[in-house]
Amino acid sequence: MTTPSLPSQPPRLPAGGFTARRLISIDDLSDAEIAYSLDLAEYYAGFLNRSEPAPQRLAGRTQINLFFEDSTRTNLSFDLAGKKLGADVVNVPVSASSIHKGESLVDTAQTLAAMGADIMIVRAKEEGLHERLDKLLSCVVVNGGAGALEHPTQALLDAATIRSQFGRIEGLTVAICGDVKHSRVAGSDARLFTRLGATVRFVGPAGLMPDNDQFTDIERCKNLKDGLKGADIVMGLRMQFERMESGGKDAAQGYFEAFGLTHETMKLASPGAFVMHPGPMNRGVEIDSALADDPERSLILRQVFYGAATRMACLDALVGAP
Ligand code: CP
Repeated sequence: MTTPSLPSQPPRLPAGGFTARRLISIDDLSDAEIAYSLDLAEYYAGFLNRSEPAPQRLAGRTQINLFFEDSTRTNLSFDLAGKKLGADVVNVPVSASSIHKGESLVDTAQTLAAMGADIMIVRAKEEGLHERLDKLLSCVVVNGGAGALEHPTQALLDAATIRSQFGRIEGLTVAICGDVKHSRVAGSDARLFTRLGATVRFVGPAGLMPDNDQFTDIERCKNLKDGLKGADIVMGLRMQFERMESGGKDAAQGYFEAFGLTHETMKLASPGAFVMHPGPMNRGVEIDSALADDPERSLILRQVFYGAATRMACLDALVGAP
């Protein structure tokens, strides 16, 4: 992967230190903590890029990855990130756990925390579970994806990816396209990018937009022509068929013809625009393969790379050695 030269020195802690002791929403971080996290991600990207061992900032710490919903990128990049920093990492095999004997999610999390966890990464769709765990557990709770609500580390890695390409977020226009309604990524990205000074738009059919009383400060566009105009980044979203009634058959009907991201539709965006997608992708549904796999136009694999670097940064900032 070619990226601009990456820093070999860690960034300075924000004045007053990094005081956040949970990462459930992007709003748990101050502006200074967000800036520090992005700089730290860039620092760790250097170690990954150079295949150099990273400082063992989590030596002696125990990290538990508790994923009640499926995940490839988030679960495995947190696993890798913890190991790179020297943590003892436990990946809970939920499908073979006592959940299937009727143990509640909270009891499971409390049991694992009692084993001496310093940090627990939790993916679950139950609204309010992360907040409840944060109150109950003595370890740091990180949201690894909460239903259609929030995915803060995805937003941070998306910001780190954009910054690696453009050198900034401020002043850019980001079009977030597709199934915004069911996407935790759309919400976290919109909150973070707006805070970082970007203009964010939601683009998609009315049936896939959030309720009107949500994200009232974000412009909504019902077609790609309006939505992609002037966009520097076009963020495709997965159609979350599993969260739709009747498996999403109606939503898929004619979707690609109207909203599919292709080299042709990317001509509606700024000339130097890039496509991104948090993954997993439905190829041929929201994005075509030629665009997704085009290294000149797609940052999708760079998002995965920054996923590991950004999660190293989050782990270090939240529970790394003082
Ligand atoms: N982007 C993302 O959260 O992917 P996974 O579901 O594979 O973790």
